[in-house]
Amino acid sequence: MKKILEDIKILDFTHVWFGPYTTMMLAELGAEVVKVEPPWGTIGRMGPGEIYKGVSTTFYALNLNKRDISMDLKNPEVMDMIKELVKQSDVVIQNFAPGTMERLGLGYDVLKEINPKIIYAALSGFGQSGPYSRYGSYAVVAEAISGHTYATGKNYDYEGPPINMAGALGDLGPAMYAAFSIVAAIRHRDRTGVGQMVDVCQVDTMVAFNCCASVAYDLFKESPIDRRQDRPRDPQRIWGILPVKDGWVQIAGERSKAVENLKEELGVDEVNKDMVVARIKDMTKLEAFDWLAKLGFPCAPIYEAHEAMWDPHLKARNMWVCLLYTSPSPRALSTSRMPSSA
Ligand SMILES: CC(C)(COP(=O)(O)OP(=O)(O)OC[C@H]1O[C@@H](n2cnc3c(N)ncnc32)[C@H](O)[C@@H]1OP(=O)(O)O)[C@@H](O)C(=O)NCCC(=O)NCCS
Repeated sequence: MKKILEDIKILDFTHVWFGPYTTMMLAELGAEVVKVEPPWGTIGRMGPGEIYKGVSTTFYALNLNKRDISMDLKNPEVMDMIKELVKQSDVVIQNFAPGTMERLGLGYDVLKEINPKIIYAALSGFGQSGPYSRYGSYAVVAEAISGHTYATGKNYDYEGPPINMAGALGDLGPAMYAAFSIVAAIRHRDRTGVGQMVDVCQVDTMVAFNCCASVAYDLFKESPIDRRQDRPRDPQRIWGILPVKDGWVQIAGERSKAVENLKEELGVDEVNKDMVVARIKDMTKLEAFDWLAKLGFPCAPIYEAHEAMWDPHLKARNMWVCLLYTSPSPRALSTSRMPSSA
């Protein structure tokens, strides 16, 4: 099958998580990605993530399907080579702190002279303009300034401190926006012959991801977190994280037909959360999930990430690819904690 970006060449100066995840998404769509690393290795090789055979696990995870070359961009002798690569490329992507590429002589103004059709994606923490634009950033920075860190803590314990989100969503979310914007810029170039600079940053994305909280504040002129605390919803509604024999399940919606099914199942006229908790407490999370999902509740077992590797649905969706040269077999991972149906 032909992939949609098969004719697209990407010159990739990205590092750490945000940029590499962007270019990996484009590689998934068929683009040829040439990753340029310094001769001493990009910082993403050393972390975060455990070191496996000398390289961080996250580096393996975020750099699939790319070619890799090393070049010292501060060596004037490589500039001709870089310029030749720029001529041959459709897209240049970098996520250094704003100003770094310009200092290296590889800013948009220079590269568009070499290739007027070039799409130049400058990914950053705070964007290419504005008072904070020169500041460095990692995922947690964008999560903090956009309200997610505060909300994560307060949703757990209203009196407690902010809590970091898990999973570097402040990198991976912006990366998806970046990939989406680059594909839109390619579409524009294909229609008009004109390239452009694409400015996607972590903070803008994470602010956009908080749109529901911002709209709620705008409408009520009151913090939605404080509002929920002052006027809590019915604590007996069938919702939330519920304990079971080997962990927890998540119920994410009190669907009316599920409630009717539950009444019938229990042979009662009214149901509430305590009744569900009492019914599932001796089940495993997979048994509780099965029971609740079949009644019609939107729900899930609460897994640690590796447990999802054995989930029959996710296996059936072909979510796992075995990296023969890097990965231990899934069975080597914590088999004592595998879900019982595995
Ligand atoms: C992540 C971040 C804080 C790291 O800071 P940093 O390691 O000081 O990186 P910078 O982007 O400022 O600069 C990279 C340095 O490596 C150098 N470098 C990178 N690739 C190179 C290469 N191939 N050859 C020679 N030097 C290279 C750059 O020249 C620069 O050094 P300089 O400042 O002495 O010129 C910063 O890159 C940043 O804020 N990026 C934008 C937000 C982002 O994407 N964060 C990461 C999320 S996972």
